Amino acid sequence: MLLRQWLRSAAAFSAPRAHSGCSTTPKRKLPEDGLQLSDFIKESSRKQRQKAIIPSIEDTKEYLNPEDLNGNGRTVCYVTYGCQMNVSDMEIVRSIMTKYGFVETEQKEKADIVLLMTCSIRDGAEKKVWNQLKLIRGNAVNRRQIVGVLGCMAERVRHGLLEKRNLVHLVAGPDSYRDLPRLVAVATGGSNAINVQLSLDETYADVQPIRVNAESKTAFISIMRGCDNMCTYCVVPFTRGRERSRPIDSIVEEVRILRNQGYKQITLLGQNVNSYRDMSSMDFASTSSEGVPGFKTVYKPKTGGLTFTTLLEKVSDVAPDVRFRFTSPHPKDFPMQLIELIASRSNLCKQLHLPAQSGDDETLERMGRGYTRDLYLRLVDDIRQILPNVSLTSDFIAGFCGETEEAHQNTLSLIQAVRYSFCFVFPYSMRGKTRAHHRLTDDVPEEVKNRRHLDLTTVFREEALKLNQALIGTQQTVLIEGKSRRDESFSFGRIDGGEKAIFNNSELLLQPGQYARVSITDATSQSLKARLIGVSNI
Ligand code: 5AD
Ligand code: SF4
Repeated sequence: MLLRQWLRSAAAFSAPRAHSGCSTTPKRKLPEDGLQLSDFIKESSRKQRQKAIIPSIEDTKEYLNPEDLNGNGRTVCYVTYGCQMNVSDMEIVRSIMTKYGFVETEQKEKADIVLLMTCSIRDGAEKKVWNQLKLIRGNAVNRRQIVGVLGCMAERVRHGLLEKRNLVHLVAGPDSYRDLPRLVAVATGGSNAINVQLSLDETYADVQPIRVNAESKTAFISIMRGCDNMCTYCVVPFTRGRERSRPIDSIVEEVRILRNQGYKQITLLGQNVNSYRDMSSMDFASTSSEGVPGFKTVYKPKTGGLTFTTLLEKVSDVAPDVRFRFTSPHPKDFPMQLIELIASRSNLCKQLHLPAQSGDDETLERMGRGYTRDLYLRLVDDIRQILPNVSLTSDFIAGFCGETEEAHQNTLSLIQAVRYSFCFVFPYSMRGKTRAHHRLTDDVPEEVKNRRHLDLTTVFREEALKLNQALIGTQQTVLIEGKSRRDESFSFGRIDGGEKAIFNNSELLLQPGQYARVSITDATSQSLKARLIGVSNI
């Protein structure tokens, strides 16, 4: 069947459904405030819903000549913004596009298709993408170039992106990457191509990612998607949808493959990585809720299934010479069994990200984080009892709604009390659809946010410097990732705690993927200088 005919069938197929994310029909008028999470995910059975709303690749085969989905060597340039999850998602997109006969290019101006993986977490992240879109349009040599926006911004802005018809031709939310070849076919035919349907079970478990940065011998594996926490400032639950986890066996198999390919560090990824729970197997080893006592959730505690602790244990067994890290976790999901497991295995890195967001109880309450400063500090103490040398890192937001000067001082004192080796600090950016947007006022002036942002950064750096200086004279094992750009005789890598170390490697010429034993000779707040002692085991 010809593409045109199929497009008609597909439009008829999706037309009667309210809020269908997938559309090839003219633009619909959306409610001013956009759609709510409940609009994205209907209560009907997953399988039924998936089949009924989105013509999946399987479904479209009935309507579309398979040749229409074929890339036939057309070139695609991939541009990624945002977090590691986006890097990992783009590796999935690469894999899907390659399977359909598209070929990667780095020449953005000449590419037949440019796909941008985007972030919506703060307004600034979206502004960057708009600027890039204008640049792409201005610089394109190929006048028939198709530009696609993928990821969180696609999910949030939706039809608003296609309204700039000359800038964007295709919009694909985080759960619709399997649909990309069809969307490209639709856009090639001159219609708006959009699929922003969120799924309750899409994990791309069966897609083998095409990895970037393979030379560093480090890789990401996405183990779960979505977030159920609904922190009041955060748009992620709306752009990424509900939590769902990949079956454990598919993750263990991917670890095995990566290990056989010589990878030496794997970072397990998820929006809420430690609330991982594989519900697909009947062989449930754990039925506990695996939360930290006292920490609250907005959802009913999850029980049953295979937990993150079980997953870590399995992957650490399967690849004993591979280092494992994970990000980004929530403090509520750090049961002591997990910490004890990390303590007992040399390949589970002693580095934990514990996003605090604030050190002030009232602010934490308004953020809906489910813990107090005291509970958080108790968790830190408990962790340090079991892992005395652990490196802790965190996220903080400066200038959240209603944050007073006193509240800000409480956050500064938390940073001093915990002593983090690194913190990501962000000025608060109000996002539509969030609870803060509906119920709170963005009342901290921009210049105050910026000053508090600077305060938080300064204080965390002071503490990080002290921690790094305390490492001088110690021996550490570094996994080498590459050569210094400034001086090729220097290599860099990370110690177990995640701090970057640089050392002269001109004699032994150790390669990325090898472990080196080093002695730390100097430190700044951001990195360590070291002297190479020799090759090491993990
Ligand atoms: N404004 C500023 N920072 C935010 N984050 C999430 N939402 C916002 C927002 N609206 C930060 C949090 C989170 C990190 C990924 O981004 O600190 O942990
Ligand atoms: Fe956003 Fe909170 Fe979920 Fe993190 S845990 S993605 S901050 S809602």
